[in-house]
Amino acid sequence: MVISIANQKGGVAKTTTAINLAAGLSLEGYKVLLIDADPQSNTTQVFIHPDIEISLEKSLYNVVMKFAPLPAVIAETRYSNLHFVPSHIRLSGVDLELAQALDNRSARLKRAIDDVRDKYDYVIIDNPPSLGLLTINSFVASDKLLIPVSTAFFALTGLVQLQETIQMVKQTQLNSHLDILGVLCTFSEHTNVSRDVEKQLREFFGGLVFQTVIPKNTALEEAHSRHTHVFDYSPKSSGSLAYKELTKEVIAR
Ligand SMILES: Nc1ncnc2c1ncn2[C@@H]1O[C@H](COP(=O)(O)OP(=O)(O)O)[C@@H](O)[C@H]1O
Ligand SMILES: [Mg+2]
Repeated sequence: MVISIANQKGGVAKTTTAINLAAGLSLEGYKVLLIDADPQSNTTQVFIHPDIEISLEKSLYNVVMKFAPLPAVIAETRYSNLHFVPSHIRLSGVDLELAQALDNRSARLKRAIDDVRDKYDYVIIDNPPSLGLLTINSFVASDKLLIPVSTAFFALTGLVQLQETIQMVKQTQLNSHLDILGVLCTFSEHTNVSRDVEKQLREFFGGLVFQTVIPKNTALEEAHSRHTHVFDYSPKSSGSLAYKELTKEVIAR
């Protein structure tokens, strides 16, 4: 099962969700591959110390641009069952660099993932805050989308555009089976705005909205700076408990 964590807005907890869902699934015993498809490389910086330079050859760039096989860039992590593909800042130029490509440039990531599908129970893709060619490559490669939405501010306008992109991917037959696995409320707080946004999301998306909501919790942020996931950094925190619940809901769906 390939799951893209996507929302073209930044700061809605895509990266936090990708890392902790991937970690949660691996702790449940599943074999997980986490792919960082965001040129900003936030996920990569959590798993690989920012002082260590990622070579272009060992990053997703080599796969998307140079047709390297995915196993050539898969890195092990210090967690069992969890493998990882680093991003690279050069991926930010992919839209331009692929403008002249004659092959099916939307399906490059899919082709690469198809080679390793049988080695992993879950492939989780963290995506950039845009709907460019990298995101389209992720959508084409994915079975399901998980859409985190911050309840800290009104965010529903962007969702219409995201739905249009999903429709576009389906209708052009790039990937007619792409579905939304679920919408995840993040940065939940006991404020009127947070409650209203959650209520609107449940009205708009109905049962697609996960029962689990992710509370605002500094342990989630701190775990990133310690280069680990929240189950490792602070297993009893509210963020850890919430992502554990989310993991169970994802498995059940
Ligand atoms: N539930 C949360 N509570 C507190 N801080 C969070 C939470 N989720 C994410 N963050 C922090 O908010 C910032 C944005 O989250 P991030 O996952 O990077 O979003 P995105 O990938 O969508 O841009 C990061 O600094 C992250 O550590
Ligand atoms: Mg991110």
